[in-house]
Amino acid sequence: MTETKMWGGRFAKTTDKLVEDFHSSISFDQILYQQDIAGSIAHAKMLGRQGIITPAEAEQLVAGLQQIREDIDAGRVEFEVGTEDIHMNIEKILTERVGEVGKKLHTARSRNDQVALDMRLYVKLQIDEVQALLLKLEETIWQVAAENKASVMAGYTHLQKAQPITMGHHLLAYFQMFRRDFERLADCRRRADYLPLGAGALAGTTFPIDRHFVAKELGFADICANTLDAVSDRDFVVEFISAASLIMVHLSRLSEEIVLWSSNEFGYITLDDGYSTGSSIMPQKKNPDVAELVRGKSGRVFGHLMGALTMLKGLPLAYNKDLQEDKEALFDTVDTIKKSLLVFAPMLATMRINCERMHERAKGGFINATDAADYLAARGVPFREAHSIIGQLVKYAEDKGVGLEDLSLAEIQQFSSVFQADIFDYIAIDKCVAARCTPGGPALPAVETALEQAAAWLNSLKN
Ligand code: ARG
Repeated sequence: MTETKMWGGRFAKTTDKLVEDFHSSISFDQILYQQDIAGSIAHAKMLGRQGIITPAEAEQLVAGLQQIREDIDAGRVEFEVGTEDIHMNIEKILTERVGEVGKKLHTARSRNDQVALDMRLYVKLQIDEVQALLLKLEETIWQVAAENKASVMAGYTHLQKAQPITMGHHLLAYFQMFRRDFERLADCRRRADYLPLGAGALAGTTFPIDRHFVAKELGFADICANTLDAVSDRDFVVEFISAASLIMVHLSRLSEEIVLWSSNEFGYITLDDGYSTGSSIMPQKKNPDVAELVRGKSGRVFGHLMGALTMLKGLPLAYNKDLQEDKEALFDTVDTIKKSLLVFAPMLATMRINCERMHERAKGGFINATDAADYLAARGVPFREAHSIIGQLVKYAEDKGVGLEDLSLAEIQQFSSVFQADIFDYIAIDKCVAARCTPGGPALPAVETALEQAAAWLNSLKN
């Protein structure tokens, strides 16, 4: 018998070194050590309470596990590749330290329910941390939006000037996106909040365990209802990466706008020197690298989502080793999303918004054409007809190389006698914004209401 592996009893030969390296996950799953130890402590306590081991044995296990946690925290523990994963590494170290009783820890448990437990604990913790970062970002967006609630800028469709809005109104659109992201994570957390431990390898256990006690110890809302599902379900990983993917979509869209706005052509914003970088050859360059990198990193998170879905789709029940592939996908997603959120908020908080330039640029491109059509429609001209009249007027002004507001009343009246001198006031850019008082729209009172509602939501989360 070759007794180097914990499961080596039935093996006549040692594992090939190539296989050992190939299937070992300790290089990446050691990140789960806190969850693994917390789970083992709760399990050991339960074994003692249920009389499956003696209370004294349970205490020895708990004390040993606590000591190992401290040592790992302090960087005093070396893990072994040959001991496969974090679960077996910790059990092995425990047994080396506390002796024979260490071998009792795995009673009524399998690595299949153990790893599912660790992953759920990890996802729940990460959701809390990502939500905190999202709230920081939301507070920053709120602040910049409030400061710019009246900063007029061009609104676009097809990246062509469309109708005037304000920077505050524009940023509050992102506030809504990240609010949905926050809620999606809360929803994902609710479904991750079930204890898989006690499912054993797949079919529960012959021991009289108390799953509800363990659930309570570890802060789960309830236990997984089916043991097969408990060990093979990774929906919560997919849901998390999916929610993370949408966060990256939103960050990436805002990144794209920051890249555009900071260009010489737009000039709407100036990024802080601390949040931009230079070129090694072109001395004039100040590049929006942070926004570009966030935009670029979105792809790896989407890739992890595809990877996780594909990994799951062909798996028969219950546990299969393919499931080990959930880890790097999840860990890299967590890492990417946290770093992106962390750097984004201060980049927004420190950028300068060039209000005058934005206002100036908003005037071109016949951005007030809809307002001119509305003027006619409000005075009885059917809108479709008004649309056509203004279309001709735009063509006329375009040929002259001027804006609608630069034409004389006599010129305008050639297109419709409905036009009066007050048309100029009606199509002045600030008036165009002020007139758009639709709830959720860009007029100042509407933006102020939106800011109040956003602040109320933020405050509701602080209690
Ligand atoms: N390292 C494994 C994983 O991450 C732990 C579970 C292994 N279970 C097994 N029966 N081989 O999925």
